[in-house]
Amino acid sequence: MPAASQSAKDFFRPLAVGAPTPLTEIPFRPSRAIHFFDPSNAKMAAKVPAMVGTVDVLLGNLEDAVKADNKEAAREGLVEIASSTDGLGAGGPTQLWTRVNSLDSPWALDDLTRLVPAIGDRLDVIMVPKVQGAEDIHYVDRLLAQLEAKAGLTRPILIHAILETARGVANIEEICGASPRMQGLSLGPADLAADRRMKTTRVGGGHPGYLVRQDPIKDSSGAIDAGAERTTYQQDLWHYTIARMVDACAMHGIYPYYGPFGDIADTVACEDQFRNAFLLGCVGTWSLHPQQIAIANKVFSPSVEDITHARRVVAAMGDGTGAVMLDGKMEDDASLKQCLVMVELAEQLAAIDPELKKQYDAIESSETEES
Ligand code: GLV
Ligand code: MG
Repeated sequence: MPAASQSAKDFFRPLAVGAPTPLTEIPFRPSRAIHFFDPSNAKMAAKVPAMVGTVDVLLGNLEDAVKADNKEAAREGLVEIASSTDGLGAGGPTQLWTRVNSLDSPWALDDLTRLVPAIGDRLDVIMVPKVQGAEDIHYVDRLLAQLEAKAGLTRPILIHAILETARGVANIEEICGASPRMQGLSLGPADLAADRRMKTTRVGGGHPGYLVRQDPIKDSSGAIDAGAERTTYQQDLWHYTIARMVDACAMHGIYPYYGPFGDIADTVACEDQFRNAFLLGCVGTWSLHPQQIAIANKVFSPSVEDITHARRVVAAMGDGTGAVMLDGKMEDDASLKQCLVMVELAEQLAAIDPELKKQYDAIESSETEES
């Protein structure tokens, strides 16, 4: 929300003379996988051009996981890749994002002042780590406006905040509403766990110790059988935070994302964690290894079964009011709205993913054959 001392109208005026006009809405762009690469790593950087068109977002990472000695090489590597790779950013098939260093680091200012003039016309989104409150977004917002004006950019660069401090979580609504540039939020489970003093040592995902257990088994006299096996159910450590993110983002018309899943070899648990986030309302996730791109694309695209059902509900509900029975289940205005969320997402994804389009189109032809 705009501060009380600010008119709502001011919110949509550029923060520097000559800067692009802020957007009143953040358009949805498919971003199922945000694939991280280290631009200072020549081997990784060489793979980037061939990945354009195969992943929704490529993100040049300048922050954690890049060694202090390589920070400048990463920044310059990103400038080189962005300038020389066709189709990357600037409306191309793959968006270009970067994660800059945290605002209290020795590198953040140079990251922004170097990248915006050099490749600002290509950069879609800047991910800001360790955001604590609206003041961090206000700082980046004004600086970006000044740099955009100086560089003569015509399109505002958007801001994405990583939620990875306890204070950031406590201030989540004000962060989402701090600027019209806010594009979304990602969960940063590793830093967040450390900041909260959680007792985990992993990068995202679950923990076998975080569980609930079946009630005690009792014998015929009502005494507890202490030796009896009792089923346990592992719980999702990130449920609370992701649910808060989803509400804050939906309230402000921006997009929530899961973050990193560090156990690259455990593709099954990775898929489960991604799916939990998708079901709760997230639109995408990070990918730290090429094999996580395929997992993310699968999980964050509605299944053919869901779309088949959703389209049946839409067709059966006619003008969208009242109630109908389908396969013994009641459908009404509210279930129709859920189905429309899925159908709309499927259409947006099909527009950029020919393979998915084929699968969704096949539903249409099989439905026509049936009727
Ligand atoms: C990501 O940056 C994290 O800290 O999990
Ligand atoms: Mg982090």
